[in-house]
Amino acid sequence: MSKVKVIHTAEELHQFRKKLVKNSQTLGFVPTMGALHNGHISLIEKSIQENDYTLISIFVNPKQFNNSVDLKEYPRTLSADLSLLTGFQNCVVFAPDEAELYPQNDGFIPMDLGSIGSVLEGAFRPGHFEGVVHVVHNLFRLVEANQSYFGQKDFQQLAIIRLLTKHFGFQTRIIGCPTVRETNGLAMSSRNMRLSKKERQDALIIIETLRLVESCKDKESLNDTIDSAKRLFHTGNLTLEYLALVDPETLCELQEWQENQICCIAAHCGSVRLIDNLLF
Ligand code: PAF
Repeated sequence: MSKVKVIHTAEELHQFRKKLVKNSQTLGFVPTMGALHNGHISLIEKSIQENDYTLISIFVNPKQFNNSVDLKEYPRTLSADLSLLTGFQNCVVFAPDEAELYPQNDGFIPMDLGSIGSVLEGAFRPGHFEGVVHVVHNLFRLVEANQSYFGQKDFQQLAIIRLLTKHFGFQTRIIGCPTVRETNGLAMSSRNMRLSKKERQDALIIIETLRLVESCKDKESLNDTIDSAKRLFHTGNLTLEYLALVDPETLCELQEWQENQICCIAAHCGSVRLIDNLLF
């Protein structure tokens, strides 16, 4: 089976892009920080279905880590990632180094993220979204994809990517894709690699709590639901950072049930910070 082609420089990417344009071929883009799992694979497969070529970027972006231990511990598994992609047709991996992705005078002008950037993850991880916006801006400018694929597990990130795409006038279409879960319900995440067997079991309290909240919709008041959800969560071994029911568009906290809402949880499982959400 053929190995996936890997390019490292902006110039190689430029040449690859030029060839596609010449042949009128479309490009799908899946940005990642590596440590690929089935969640990423589902994005890649969707992109392969919908485009002539797919570019997967693998870059652990230091700018989006507000915690130096988290950055140090983030799994870096490039050779395993490339093995996983063996046999995927019409895929290219872009694995730049920091100097390549952040050249001096890269022309990036920070944008105001408004309230969407300051709630939930924004409140607990200062600077995180600013770092995401910077790297995605630089990637979008180099890649010029027709469509770009992001997971809904990072729901707030997806909202911010839509905002930045509009703000900077990128032409790529943003496609949000459903969260992929283990059969026991644990949302797939590169960070799961750092969980022990027991912690993987403990982490199931997240999805159990989200499902409890969903089951209370229109039956219990929203406040009572949040109280019960927190009570359930605290029977487990994780430390809760936030549990919030918000509007899927504005991410503003809700006072009462509406047709659609999203419940978001962030919590620490041992030394690993996990997030998950359920839209219902
Ligand atoms: O979701 C991720 O893996 C990262 O935040 C992204 C979008 C690749 C930017 O570094």
